[in-house]
Amino acid sequence: MNVLILGSGGREHAFALKLSQSKKVEQLFVAPGNAGTEQLATNININPTDFKAIKNIVVNNNIKMVVVGPEAPLVAGVHDFFLADSLLKDIPVIGPQKDGALLEGSKDFSKHFMQKHNIPTARYQSFTKDNLEEGFVFLETLQPPFVLKADGLAAGKGVLILDSLNEAKMELKEMVSNEKFGKASSRVVVEEFLKGIELSVFVLTDGKNYKILPSAKDYKRIGEGDTGLNTGGMGAISPVPFADDSFLDKVEELVIKPTINGLQKDGIDYRGFIFIGLMNDKGNPSVVEYNVRMGDPETEVVLPRIESDLFDLFEGVANQTLHEKSFSVTKKTATTVMLVSGGYPEAYQKDKEINGFDNVEESIVFHAGTVLKDDKVVTNGGRVMAITSFGDTIEEALEKSYRSISKIDFDKINYRKDIGFDLV
Ligand code: AMP
Ligand code: GLY
Repeated sequence: MNVLILGSGGREHAFALKLSQSKKVEQLFVAPGNAGTEQLATNININPTDFKAIKNIVVNNNIKMVVVGPEAPLVAGVHDFFLADSLLKDIPVIGPQKDGALLEGSKDFSKHFMQKHNIPTARYQSFTKDNLEEGFVFLETLQPPFVLKADGLAAGKGVLILDSLNEAKMELKEMVSNEKFGKASSRVVVEEFLKGIELSVFVLTDGKNYKILPSAKDYKRIGEGDTGLNTGGMGAISPVPFADDSFLDKVEELVIKPTINGLQKDGIDYRGFIFIGLMNDKGNPSVVEYNVRMGDPETEVVLPRIESDLFDLFEGVANQTLHEKSFSVTKKTATTVMLVSGGYPEAYQKDKEINGFDNVEESIVFHAGTVLKDDKVVTNGGRVMAITSFGDTIEEALEKSYRSISKIDFDKINYRKDIGFDLV
């Protein structure tokens, strides 16, 4: 079968690697892909939200399954587009339709969903410019720090955590009245601050049945010791040592089952990944957020730990036979360290030649922001490559990742030297 993956990051390179290992996958296409996916698949340079262009690729290449990496095409309705098109309607899309994608596309929707289905999460209320004064009153009932979230997609920048009440009021006003994050912040979720340690749990569902994939922890800030600006993610570790069986059982009972049942009750036919951002507060889970896709760089540690055929699981999603499928996970720990362009997550330069990654032997090099230019691999984004390694311990895996990184170079290379610092 021919398969198309939408997206261009390390996550999509990891999907491409896993799917290329499946005997059932004949030709693999990635749109737009990167220099890494180019070695495993045919890259096609289109925007993954250009549905007409996707249709052309699918029809012209006899594609029989589409795997959606990022949230934007899902929130924009790529799955709905397929279902509404006579030529595409029987081609399975791994990723929810628009109604399910709202779990990520609207914070207000996802908070309402959690409240309705009794899923543990921070107390909240939503505000627009029409009830801003009520927002100020609600803020006064909360303890600092104050959490403000733009309702819509804001490229990971729409969440503010503020220590002072006055600042929180000012920012809330900026968000709803002056659209600080554009239309995304015309509605804002104000919520309680959750204490604890954060981790992510990934679920694959066919709408009725589900599989819980390995958990992971990512490192979001640019600076060592989790300081500085937020990024897409600077590294990840799987499994998460503090997510023991008893905690994960609670997550399944209190969060995963009510989420899958809630989707069914609400008439949402959800087929794809659910990425659950959780806070572990003394062994009790609380949901920070849902995403409707896999995480990046979490995918670069989660998928390599899955030993069995990923395509087989995707077929289970497509045919609603996920309950008949089984999969195995290595007990080994996987770590990944993201190499980024100097300046990221603020302004950075592109087109820097990347050297030495071919010499890496003890790690997997997942490309993210890379592109092939005149036979050279050059940087093409802020996050450039994720270097994944296995070990019996976190320390052993990290040592391999850092040894591999010492062989790789590009102008103004930057990476965190302390991934896993809080766990080892
Ligand atoms: P979100 O986009 O909702 O995941 O928020 C981004 C990040 O802000 C999360 O990964 C958390 O680190 C932090 N965060 C969000 N909501 C809360 C909360 N209620 N309490 C504490 N931290 C939070
Ligand atoms: N690494 C966080 C995310 O993918 O949203």
